[in-house]
Amino acid sequence: MEKSMERENIIKKLESELNGVEKLSDLANVKAMFLGREGIVTKLSSKMKEIPNEEKREYGKFLNEIKNEVEEKINFKFQELSDKELKEKLIKDAIDITLPGRKIKKGSLHPLTRITEEFEDLFVSMGYTVYSGVEVESDENCFQKLNIPKGHPARDAQDTFYLKDEFENFLLRSQTSTAQARAMEENTDKGPIRIICPGKVYRRDEDATHSHQFMQIEGLVIDHDVSMADLKGTLELFCKKILGEKTKVRFRPSFFPFTEPSVEVDVTCFKCGGRGCNLCKDTGWIEVLGAGMVHPNVLEMGGYDSKKYQGFAFGTGIDRFAMFKYAIPDIRTIYANDIRFLSQFDRKDVD
Ligand code: PHE
Repeated sequence: MEKSMERENIIKKLESELNGVEKLSDLANVKAMFLGREGIVTKLSSKMKEIPNEEKREYGKFLNEIKNEVEEKINFKFQELSDKELKEKLIKDAIDITLPGRKIKKGSLHPLTRITEEFEDLFVSMGYTVYSGVEVESDENCFQKLNIPKGHPARDAQDTFYLKDEFENFLLRSQTSTAQARAMEENTDKGPIRIICPGKVYRRDEDATHSHQFMQIEGLVIDHDVSMADLKGTLELFCKKILGEKTKVRFRPSFFPFTEPSVEVDVTCFKCGGRGCNLCKDTGWIEVLGAGMVHPNVLEMGGYDSKKYQGFAFGTGIDRFAMFKYAIPDIRTIYANDIRFLSQFDRKDVD
């Protein structure tokens, strides 16, 4: 057969075979049919030995050309099918990215954190800074520098969680007032101070309204010309802002070793508005703060000249405010980490 005819026939056959191939896996059969051991092109090559020597060269060229053309066409088909199959796979495996994701349940701030932040915002807006102090405090800062020497009866209710051995002069602070001594000492230039100190304190108590660990917030202002009027104005504002403008505030004389004069501050009962109910034990008032003018001894022990400086201090229980504000009957639930309690404070503005 004329070589060009033969070549044309082979290519035609190849093209018609390739036309019928729709899957990559079937392409291997066509490849074997032409280039495999028994393949059409392979068989042509084996004819070489029958070709007279002078024609061998040209026959070799013919063989090469036909082999190249067959390979090229098969490769082209291979590429075409690969692209097609990839495209199909991508379409099949596509993810619908417009589907909304699963919602993550958001937690919310603990009621104590909320109240603390409310206090902080208010006092920072009045020029105070937030001071944290330490929870493991020295006997000196917790008591002695607050005018409560060893053996003083005021310790009885508070000398609770002491450390052992070489740390026996340290205890878990029983009141944030320790921050007063610490802040005065740290303020080495002995200039004015205006801080609040929120944090945990520890005592021996344990009942529905007392926990061995609870939170207080301390305030301390030291400056020239600070008077009881400043203290009253500050605390009235504080109570009204936190508990509502209608709240009335009452100051009763009291005693704290580190303030002189000392007061206790009552507010009109937020449940009954002052008429009398079970919450205020029919008095119409609820005690919320201890406060007073910083005792000159405390100023002096803190390195301040009590002739040039005065100060006022106040302390209140954050838990108490939380209990009143959110009508929580038992303080221990605040620390129980029970999700049924905590989820009642979930943010309602977001879901
Ligand atoms: N530390 C006092 C208490 O725990 C409260 C207080 C603070 C009183 C500051 C006066 C001045 O009861």
